[in-house]
Amino acid sequence: MYKLFYKSSLLLKRIFGYEKPLRVALLGYLSLKFKSFKPHYESILYEACLESKKLGINSVSVLELGVAGGAGIIALEKYKKKIEKVLDMEIKVYGFDTGAGLPKIEKNEDLPFLWKEGLYNIDKEALEKKVESKIFYGDVKNTIDDFIKINKNKICCIFLDLDLYTSTINFLNQIPKIEKHLLPRVLCYFDDIYVFENYINQFNGVFKAINEFNNNFSEFKLGYSVDHFKDFKFPLAKTSMYTLHCFKNDLYKKYISSNIESDLSINSKHIRSLID
Ligand SMILES: C[S@@+](CC[C@H](N)C(=O)[O-])C[C@H]1O[C@@H](n2cnc3c(N)ncnc32)[C@H](O)[C@@H]1O
Repeated sequence: MYKLFYKSSLLLKRIFGYEKPLRVALLGYLSLKFKSFKPHYESILYEACLESKKLGINSVSVLELGVAGGAGIIALEKYKKKIEKVLDMEIKVYGFDTGAGLPKIEKNEDLPFLWKEGLYNIDKEALEKKVESKIFYGDVKNTIDDFIKINKNKICCIFLDLDLYTSTINFLNQIPKIEKHLLPRVLCYFDDIYVFENYINQFNGVFKAINEFNNNFSEFKLGYSVDHFKDFKFPLAKTSMYTLHCFKNDLYKKYISSNIESDLSINSKHIRSLID
């Protein structure tokens, strides 16, 4: 009885001290409970496709790195169908997974106390029945070459869920190899940016991989935007999103912003209302 009372009072203090609005917690809870309900996947895919359209590209590819039981890729397939109709585009989804769960974990930066070899081992046959998209099986450091051979579209966004520092950096180091397959700016979602135990930080996991990538390559940078009151487009993804800038891309300098300057002209309705 005492244990229950103690745990309940602790929970209550945590609820009162929780800094985000409870509706956000509710959305997060729903996405944990219903694994294929991923509003962040949907928003990122939609925005990435929209940017692609503005650049004049109507066929895109989306990658999910780390497929496991398929919750993410199934969600992507569901959202892809809707977005294809709304934006009149073609979207191809590709998955990457060892097919046998997490690979051997040796480095401290891979958080061996959190992850272990073989975790998320999958039933490939069952997965193939549920998923239409092509999944490349094997270590991602070896399967990108196979992807390059068949991919015809530009990659507009990448969902990275490989858990480990080593797996993530092994993928990121291949970005120059897929340069010709990328849009000038690619939205990247990193799933493993936080765990409840606060184990993940700037010295391990995906943060370390991102830092190393940014140090390794001057023509590519993975950066994040500040938290801002205007940011409403990416529910549940705010702190997990980076944009991969590919500076040498032919389309990097193409102007695609909507013409907001006219709103500030002296003749605009808004300014005139202040003067008249
Ligand atoms: C957390 S699970 C992915 C969960 C999935 N995205 C979802 O939404 O349900 C991580 C996956 O990454 C895969 N993985 C980790 N390192 C890998 C590597 N080097 N190459 C390929 N797959 C890897 C594992 O096999 C595992 O299935």
